[in-house]
Amino acid sequence: MKTKIITTNTTKKEQQNKNIQTVEYSQLVKEAGAILRAGGVVAFPTETVYGLGANALDEEAAKKIYAAKGRPSDNPLIIHIGEIEDVGHIASNLSTKTEMVMKTFWPGALTLVLEKKDCVPQGTTGGLDTVAVRMPSHKMARDIIGAGGGYIAAPSANVSGRPSPTKGEHVIEDMEDRIDMIVVNDTVEIGVESTILDMTVDPPQILRPGAITREMLMDVIGYVELDKGLALDSKEAPKAPGMKYRHYAPKATLSILEGDNPNRVKYIQGEIQSRNQGLQGIGIITREQNKEMYESLKKENNGKIHIISLGDDSKAEEIASNLYKVLRDFDKIEVSHIYSESFWDMEMSEAIMNRLNKAAGYNIVRV
Ligand code: TXA
Ligand code: MG
Repeated sequence: MKTKIITTNTTKKEQQNKNIQTVEYSQLVKEAGAILRAGGVVAFPTETVYGLGANALDEEAAKKIYAAKGRPSDNPLIIHIGEIEDVGHIASNLSTKTEMVMKTFWPGALTLVLEKKDCVPQGTTGGLDTVAVRMPSHKMARDIIGAGGGYIAAPSANVSGRPSPTKGEHVIEDMEDRIDMIVVNDTVEIGVESTILDMTVDPPQILRPGAITREMLMDVIGYVELDKGLALDSKEAPKAPGMKYRHYAPKATLSILEGDNPNRVKYIQGEIQSRNQGLQGIGIITREQNKEMYESLKKENNGKIHIISLGDDSKAEEIASNLYKVLRDFDKIEVSHIYSESFWDMEMSEAIMNRLNKAAGYNIVRV
């Protein structure tokens, strides 16, 4: 399948890619909407990550998403809406607490799990009687959703198991020739997927941490639980079907080093020495404040150490928004092992560390 790639504002990088067409905003929204209405698949940006959209009320269209991603069919999709009142068409029995969180956090990075209405096919919800709903704050996303019929199923626009895309080039890498259209518009701000809050249980439960934190939710609706299945030592499976799969994995082996900074440097040094024969290259994920610390390792191992900072650690949103890009960047550099610091000491740490630990396959080393 030939994928049409369109944008409204061509940057230098995009001009080099002859396959990208530049069109007016209204034309872009119209074309994307027409494909969605005809049962096709369109990738578009949201404020969290790029989504892979199809008509959520059309089972055949939703099936195309599973095929393009290579996603297991028991893993349900989130339905995206453009107007707050549209939630009533697909979900029933909205509680007062549900109304309160919707009013406070929509549009935004919060997905609510609700009782599903019959018009939502089981092919969209992976056979569940509940439905996940989100109203994004991203204007272009909402305009495309509206033009596409109002109810758009959209998982992250990556091939299953890969890091979620935060840049148009990531979507092109994963989805070119697999779907009808890719809308390139690099305005993804948050960089990790939305918080998922299950409102069908009392107290409400966070099934996936994100930019809307537990504290923020508790300020509005009182006590909120974190799904126990998300804990590192949990024997129970997480409740959101998608959270049980290994995810976001870079090609190299990734280890998270928990402990003091001097011990981290010492540990990496030891690893380098023990693997000196045939050492391909080592990646280090750090923060602005710590990157100097690894310079001596870099000097001693000419060219084989690649240090990448996620950003300033006083700005959690900077750290979060760079995470998936850095994991993808390491796939393009010859490294066999990546060592990452942990990022527990900031807002959104639940979301950041949940994604990082999953990317590492829970390969956590205490140093
Ligand atoms: O930020 C986001 O939420 C992005 C953007 C594109 O909006 N979307 C996204 O979708 O992350 P996806 O499909 O990659 O992740 C959806 C997660 C999966 O873990 C899935 O199992 C869970 O939501 N989920 C969907 N419906 C559910 C339901 N009814 N009950 C429990 N979990 C559900
Ligand atoms: Mg995903």
